[in-house]
Amino acid sequence: MAVTPLQDPALVVLVGAAGSGKSTWAADHYRAVEVVSSDTLRGVVGSGPADLDASVDAFDLLDRIVAARLRRRLTVVVDTLGLDPARRSGWLGQARQHGIPAVAVLLDTPDAVCRQRNSRRDRPVPAPVLLTQLRRMRSVAAELAAEGWDDVITVRNNEVADVRTAETPVSLPSGRSEESRPRVVLQLSSVPWGGEPTAWLRSIALAADEVGFHGIALMDHLIQIPQVGRAWDPIPEPFVTLGLLAGLDTRLALGTLVSPVTFRRPGLLAKAVATLDVLSGGRAFCGVGAGWWEREHAAYGLAFPTPGERLDLLEEGIETMRALWSTGTRSYAGQRVSLPETTSYPRPLHDVPIIVGGSGQRSLSIAGRLGDGCNVAADDRLPSRIDVVRTAARDAGRDPAEVEITVLDVAIVGRDRDDTAARVERTRGRTAAATWATRHHAGEPATHAERYRRLGMLGVGTVFLALPDLSGPEDPEDLERVAPLLAALRT
Ligand code: CTP
Ligand code: MG
Repeated sequence: MAVTPLQDPALVVLVGAAGSGKSTWAADHYRAVEVVSSDTLRGVVGSGPADLDASVDAFDLLDRIVAARLRRRLTVVVDTLGLDPARRSGWLGQARQHGIPAVAVLLDTPDAVCRQRNSRRDRPVPAPVLLTQLRRMRSVAAELAAEGWDDVITVRNNEVADVRTAETPVSLPSGRSEESRPRVVLQLSSVPWGGEPTAWLRSIALAADEVGFHGIALMDHLIQIPQVGRAWDPIPEPFVTLGLLAGLDTRLALGTLVSPVTFRRPGLLAKAVATLDVLSGGRAFCGVGAGWWEREHAAYGLAFPTPGERLDLLEEGIETMRALWSTGTRSYAGQRVSLPETTSYPRPLHDVPIIVGGSGQRSLSIAGRLGDGCNVAADDRLPSRIDVVRTAARDAGRDPAEVEITVLDVAIVGRDRDDTAARVERTRGRTAAATWATRHHAGEPATHAERYRRLGMLGVGTVFLALPDLSGPEDPEDLERVAPLLAALRT
């Protein structure tokens, strides 16, 4: 099945004469259940696909299927001649009503090819009927252009030859229009390691390295968070776990995304990260944040001060770690922190990047002033968050480019359209499939690569990719599905 070059979910209306290749194109790009065909339905309610006496019943069913799928925000491909403007406008109106993109796909196939294919059929369309269709085709492109479709796509020789889109192009922040492709780090938010924790971690890390991930990040939580799983799912101590990963023969960057400063005094975090850097040969990074989940603090007897105090701790923590990682053993008297000595060995092998997590104004400002990176949510407000970080960096007299923009992306990546749909269905719980698919950008590798390129153009340097349906130890090849995404970002 080819990669669908279209918006998704969408209403897709095929337009083309008999034999132009509509059904073939639909089958190449969509799952069978997504395609609703008047010919097939004639065969269901009549004697066969060519039973024109069954047309009224067939179209009645077709319209109901289109309506039901659009209501659920599920993609539906309408495989009819598509030459009737009244029918087209009815379907288009329904897509509008549900806020779903409406796409017309025009099969631009030479008349002679349609005639030849038609003549080879068991029940060819009568020549005068085909002639009428071919004549209609000459004016239909202009009709489509005036009807208000989001995209009008022309297919020639089985390939997309032209896309006319009504969408206004996304404007990019100035000076950032060049192509830049983010690195992708695998964010392990759950560890479905079954009865074999060590073997599972090892196989995941080796596979991540093999398929081209830049690194692995672990969450730092004491109880599995509700966004990811159940409270009794395993959530290992990250630095012990990263120590195991550091001992494997990979090139992966390793760190947490992110460690709450409320868990460990910053000196202890500095010690753990420095040790990780040494054991991994200089591959550590350090994610820090203010912490947000009260329950895990209460359960472990940890203080959970006010947001303002936690953000103070974050600033102090970053300063303390940098003091303990710098050379020498002298005393340190900084802006917020004083230490009688900075004797801390081993020192990290390289400048360990500190990535500040959090999308609130003050977290963003701390990232801009003190961080080597920020980690923010990649929703509609991403550009304004990037602005806050860069402004804070500039105000602190830094080059804003020193602060790498990173995002967390929880995404469903399927091998193909069928696999993607199956993964959505498996993981959605009680959430409607279309809502779940949208929330996790469900799609094939090429779709995600395109999305990551757009993030790159906005200034994102690293994407932390969390896979909500990572497999257990029984399927060590699971990560291979992501390989084409990573390869697409390299070429
Ligand atoms: N075909 C082909 N190469 C293509 C597309 C189609 O050889 N790129 C062949 C198909 O195998 C089929 C015939 O052309 O035998 C007609 O294609 P089809 O997709 O069935 O055309 P439709 O537009 O769906 O025709 P109809 O309106 O009659 O359903
Ligand atoms: Mg057909």
